[in-house]
Amino acid sequence: MALKITVIGTGYLGATHAAAMAELGFEVLGLDVVPEKIEMLGRGQVPMFEPGLEELLRKHVAGIEGSTGRLRFTMDWAEVAEFGDVHFVCVNTPQKHGEYACDMSYVDSAVESLAKHLRGPNLVVGKSTVPVGSADRLAARILELAPGGGEVELAWNPEFLREGFAVQDTLHPDRIVVGVRSERAEELLREVYATPIADGSPFVVTDFPTAELVKTSANSFLATKISFINAMAEVCEAAGGDVAKLAEAIGHDDRIGKKFLRAGIGFGGGCLPKDIRAFMARAGELGADQALTFLREIDSINMRQRGQMVELARQALGGGSFLGKRVAVLGATFKPDSDDVRDSPALNVAGQIHLQGGQVTVYDPKGMANARRLFPTLGYADSAVEAVRGADVVLHLTEWREFRELDPRALGEVAAARVILDGRNALDPELWREAGWSYRAMGRPTA
Ligand code: UDX
Repeated sequence: MALKITVIGTGYLGATHAAAMAELGFEVLGLDVVPEKIEMLGRGQVPMFEPGLEELLRKHVAGIEGSTGRLRFTMDWAEVAEFGDVHFVCVNTPQKHGEYACDMSYVDSAVESLAKHLRGPNLVVGKSTVPVGSADRLAARILELAPGGGEVELAWNPEFLREGFAVQDTLHPDRIVVGVRSERAEELLREVYATPIADGSPFVVTDFPTAELVKTSANSFLATKISFINAMAEVCEAAGGDVAKLAEAIGHDDRIGKKFLRAGIGFGGGCLPKDIRAFMARAGELGADQALTFLREIDSINMRQRGQMVELARQALGGGSFLGKRVAVLGATFKPDSDDVRDSPALNVAGQIHLQGGQVTVYDPKGMANARRLFPTLGYADSAVEAVRGADVVLHLTEWREFRELDPRALGEVAAARVILDGRNALDPELWREAGWSYRAMGRPTA
């Protein structure tokens, strides 16, 4: 009989995973402790913007006309325990307030609430990003709490999905990593992922700590790549070099690769910043803090980029104060194709300038509602043109396609001054300069 799957926590990761599991042919039951989320998902609506996710959900949510009916949602732990053979834990692990460490309370409480009802045989699969050692601790806790005892097992299966590509990354993962303690657990997970495995996704089997570490080390590597190129941008700036050319040239070496070498205002979002900090905190607890002190530098290079963008804007406005100056900000989300503004470098820069007295007007294709909620005192416009109208300087801070397709001539007609600062090195300098703009980006020659 086909496996039945449950997904606990229906945020980014969980909602996508639940829909993807239904797409792979399984009967799926999703659980969340927030009633509004469950109601929305039950109607086939997604609480965030993620390309393709709502379509996938509507294709499978029970009760929607023409759906397969394979996907349902509930708030009832007993129902989830009764229903599922394999239970995926997808709750979030945010940074603790005032500390680097991550807050495990949601994972702990999800595992405990579930375990109490599990009579076995069951596999609980952790997907959340956790400090190494958590799986070992949670396995012991499950054994204590589950009525099914040793029939209830744990596995760790980190998730590598990127916002903006969540559906694609979940259905066609570039690798599947499973930390297991038995052949049975491995076999069950091979069955769950049979389709992507058949399509060629590599399946890597490890122990618990390695599986946990794969996730945090992958994110640390990505963060390091971005801060590396941003450090090169600082050197280019000082030496008169061009970091975009430099990135292109070193990227031809396939040991280095072209991806994740775009210099700019750096990384943000709900993962990279908090993951590298939690990783440092955990290494400290393990007595291996020296191994990760370099991540402190990665973090500070990254945070410095935001301040440098503010300084570039100040220089562009004559070097004095922002008082009375009108600043257009294109982009609010931490990356394009997402409405996520968590730790967004764009909003951080907009906020800093606003707090220094600048009249900031922000426009973002999808992030307006979330940006307004986080930063209600900033000005907001309904389009890029409206944001730029009357601006003394324009800051391009999130690389949405819509901004690359703007007509610099038309924008030049409405701006008070034709000065654009490209915080993402994503616009075509020639195009803007031809239209009479002064174009400036970090680590690139001024003309
Ligand atoms: C990341 C990881 O990529 C993903 O594998 C993991 O599962 C979750 O964390 P995500 O947070 O969606 O995914 O964002 P990502 O695409 O990695 O981008 C992170 C940040 O880095 C963004 O703010 C982006 O603008 C920035 N970035 C990316 C750069 O500044 N330069 C680059 O070259 C690439």
